Amino acid sequence: MDMQRLPTTRVIHPSILYFGTPVLLITTRNPDGTANITPMSSAWALADRIVIGLSGGGQGLANLRREGECVLNFAGEHMHRGVERMAPTTGRDPVPAWKAAIGYRHEADKFTLGGWHAEPSLSVKPPRIAECPLQMEARLLLEINRPLEAWRDAAGGYAIVELEVLHVHAHDDVTVAGTQHVDPRRYRPLFYLFRHYVGCGTPFGRTFKAEV
Ligand SMILES: Cc1cc2nc3c(=O)[nH]c(=O)nc-3n(C[C@H](O)[C@H](O)[C@H](O)COP(=O)(O)O)c2cc1C
Repeated sequence: MDMQRLPTTRVIHPSILYFGTPVLLITTRNPDGTANITPMSSAWALADRIVIGLSGGGQGLANLRREGECVLNFAGEHMHRGVERMAPTTGRDPVPAWKAAIGYRHEADKFTLGGWHAEPSLSVKPPRIAECPLQMEARLLLEINRPLEAWRDAAGGYAIVELEVLHVHAHDDVTVAGTQHVDPRRYRPLFYLFRHYVGCGTPFGRTFKAEV
């Protein structure tokens, strides 16, 4: 690019730094045996590990801490309305004061709220969400609790959680038949981008390591 034509910049102070990550719906088991769904998007993967960031005080985090297992269900583009119906809710009862103050309410049955169906998992107790194109059963390896100045007086910090993925379930129609591959042309994840929902854009081709 010609130096004369480089874009100009300015320093900004955005209220959040959600630069665009897939929406995960984490299923965990409540103490009474029912299932909870935690929508979240702060996640990254390396090998068979997925590391997630969860703010303190949530029901999903408490369940994960207690039972040590969960399912990471990856929302498809088509699921954005159900995700947003769930957005102002928590499985926690009573609702933490800071959440109640900004309009959150308790919701015991998030499957019905989302309009989704539960399917049993192979190795963990929480169910999978049948409508999600990818569903990963996982177990807790490590939790690190961190204070967060920006959320002082509210969530009281956040947890960095390392999970080991045990099984990956994939809808037939997002896999390449006869292989172990997900077909990136047909898998259409939902993304969370600066508090907006967006789908997949135009594919630009593959990296040199891609096998399909
Ligand atoms: C699209 C989306 C992404 C979110 N991402 C995160 C996240 O990465 N980490 C987090 O702690 N909360 C995130 N939240 C907020 C939680 O869903 C919210 O705190 C919820 O009340 C947790 O539910 P639970 O208390 O039943 O676990 C997100 C919410 C939505 C709708």
